[in-house]
Amino acid sequence: TLLDIDGRLLPVIRIPGYDQVAEVRSMPQWKARDDDILICAYPKSGTHWIWEIVMMLLQGKAERVNAIKETAMLEGTSQKSFDSLPSPRVLNTHILYQDLPKDFREKHCKMIYLLRNVKDVAVSFFHHHCKLIDYTYSGKWENYLKRFIDGKVDYGAWTDHVLQWEKVAGDNNVNILLVAYEDMHKNPEVQVKRIAEYLGKAASQELIKDIVDLCSFKKMKKEKDPLEDLNEWKDKQPGMYRKGIVGDWKTMFTVAQNEKFDAYLAEKMSPSKWCTQYDL
Ligand code: PPS
Repeated sequence: TLLDIDGRLLPVIRIPGYDQVAEVRSMPQWKARDDDILICAYPKSGTHWIWEIVMMLLQGKAERVNAIKETAMLEGTSQKSFDSLPSPRVLNTHILYQDLPKDFREKHCKMIYLLRNVKDVAVSFFHHHCKLIDYTYSGKWENYLKRFIDGKVDYGAWTDHVLQWEKVAGDNNVNILLVAYEDMHKNPEVQVKRIAEYLGKAASQELIKDIVDLCSFKKMKKEKDPLEDLNEWKDKQPGMYRKGIVGDWKTMFTVAQNEKFDAYLAEKMSPSKWCTQYDL
């Protein structure tokens, strides 16, 4: 099940007393704060990982955050709880730039956009659909892949998302730091340092090392999984931290699927420099 709000496909979020349609419709008017930080990404691109890192950088210490990033996710939050979050807020979202509250754009809030190889995103999103009860999904991978290509998944097509954010990032008036999942894997310390510098947070090499360590896939899985609501997951098995690797797509795509997907990407992403710059 997907929620279609004026043509925007979103996941269904069930919170008692929370009217998702009304909240999403009012979102363009929400007030930003100058020191808001917004982490933006197509789903399954590493939002949990980067949110945890940014929270620790702001705290100035490598200490586990006792909350899940969904508590600060725009499209899963009511205006009231959004307004009650303490500053500086580390918000996150999967929506398109055009759908952000206008105030974020007007206040030039700092934004981090995450990129991840699209084939790994598709595989991760497939498992996400299969494991979360609210999706009521039990389809096969080959059918899911078609659905993903057609953009019949929440937040629409990956290609539209990345192309729109790439266009926006090229505008000098917008303050965006780009972070790639694969670069985080290659050298997390370099990337965490970049993020700290962008946020204007002093971070010693030791602090960066400790944050990288505490935010490793293994530690996050062990320590963040227990904060998940088990009732949202099939067999009460949380699946947010699944494999956390680069290149898992090779275990799912057949040769024919891969060729077809490459042709689709080449056509759709021809205007994109990011696609050649990063391993998308
Ligand atoms: S969501 O639900 O869209 O917000 O998911 P998101 O956090 O963006 O992406 C989930 C994928 O990121 C992996 N992940 C990590 N990889 C490496 N290190 C750390 N610490 C980490 N935390 C999360 C997670 O496992 C999902 O990828 P897959 O390929 O499914 O494992």
